[in-house]
Amino acid sequence: MNIEATTSLRDAVNEKYLDYHGSTPLLVRSPGRVNLIGEHTDYNQGLVLPAAIDKNIIVAIGKRDDNTIQLYAMDQQESYSVDLDAFDRSPLLWPDYILGVVQQLQQRGHQLGGFNIVFGGDIPQGAGLSSSAALECATAFALNELFDLGISRLDIALTAQAAENEFVGVKCGLMDQFASVFGQEQRLIKLDCADFSHEYIPFNNPDLRIVLFDTQVKHSLASSAYNERREQCERGVALIQKCRPEVKSLRDATIRQLDEYVRPVDATVYSRCYYVVSEIKRLQDACNDLKKDDFATFGKRMFETHEGLQHLYEVSCHELDVLVDLVRDNDAVLGARMMGGGFGGCTINLVKVDQVEAVVDAVTAGYKQKTGRTTQAYIANISAGTNLILD
Ligand code: GLA
Repeated sequence: MNIEATTSLRDAVNEKYLDYHGSTPLLVRSPGRVNLIGEHTDYNQGLVLPAAIDKNIIVAIGKRDDNTIQLYAMDQQESYSVDLDAFDRSPLLWPDYILGVVQQLQQRGHQLGGFNIVFGGDIPQGAGLSSSAALECATAFALNELFDLGISRLDIALTAQAAENEFVGVKCGLMDQFASVFGQEQRLIKLDCADFSHEYIPFNNPDLRIVLFDTQVKHSLASSAYNERREQCERGVALIQKCRPEVKSLRDATIRQLDEYVRPVDATVYSRCYYVVSEIKRLQDACNDLKKDDFATFGKRMFETHEGLQHLYEVSCHELDVLVDLVRDNDAVLGARMMGGGFGGCTINLVKVDQVEAVVDAVTAGYKQKTGRTTQAYIANISAGTNLILD
């Protein structure tokens, strides 16, 4: 973990809370995430391979004597306040991540009182590193502590996901929230989204770094296209189910079934489903590569995932493709692909440690030349999940 950055962020959030409310808050840290492989598989009951990173949202929280929810976002320098028992979506958007969690907790029968939150973070926003999931998870964790609700870590992640699905309106899977809550230092999480079982896979090769290149774009169709992809996957399953009722999700489906039941009916739905079914298999193969420390083959699979996301699932964009093309023939880069929902955000790259600087320089120059834009590079260190900050 980048201890210095986290400490100064913690101090800043803590001080702001003290300034505003004159009392000492409870502090909770929740990280952003990367995903090595297994993209758009979570909502298809598939597998994913994310990890929490050393970039965080920090929430300072404390009780109030009334029924008010009083919020302050340090980055936006905006306040927002509502009544605990009567609130709707906010025109500001950022409060919705907190209010959505409150609504979900209330719907699950938990008794809350009024509270203050001040929060800040160093997870780049709109970069596909799940800053919103981190805020939801930090909020759920903080409310659980503050009001002693007795909620498990899994339920914290599920509550945060439901907030995003129901209140914010993005029908995301569980990957981001699970990674934020369950992250561990230097370990990837192999999560089975069919039953939430998971296993940790060590990822601490000293010769490699995870480097993210941020396109610095977020195309506006991102959330509508995301929900549309989800529906297309469901349509594929429905087509198979007509003849094979035992197939409940794309996790159960085979390429053969897609060829037989989906391809003749809908070419687009076929491409979407083909990508997902191959990606679930690819992740399993990639985990075997990791067991053998075969990062070269692992990296090739990352490029394959990008191809699939670009041409079959069609959630990439020009800027992401440029970033991947720029490293494709670079021997210092073992693998690269777009990461997360798509239509902008970051690429994830496995880079040889002694050549990180040279790669960053080459990509920065190439991206500028090909798109006229500036990329931002981040080194992602794999870190621990959501927790109380003590001391
Ligand atoms: C976003 C969603 C996740 C997941 C990824 C794609 O990050 O929030 O649930 O579906 O996209 O893998």
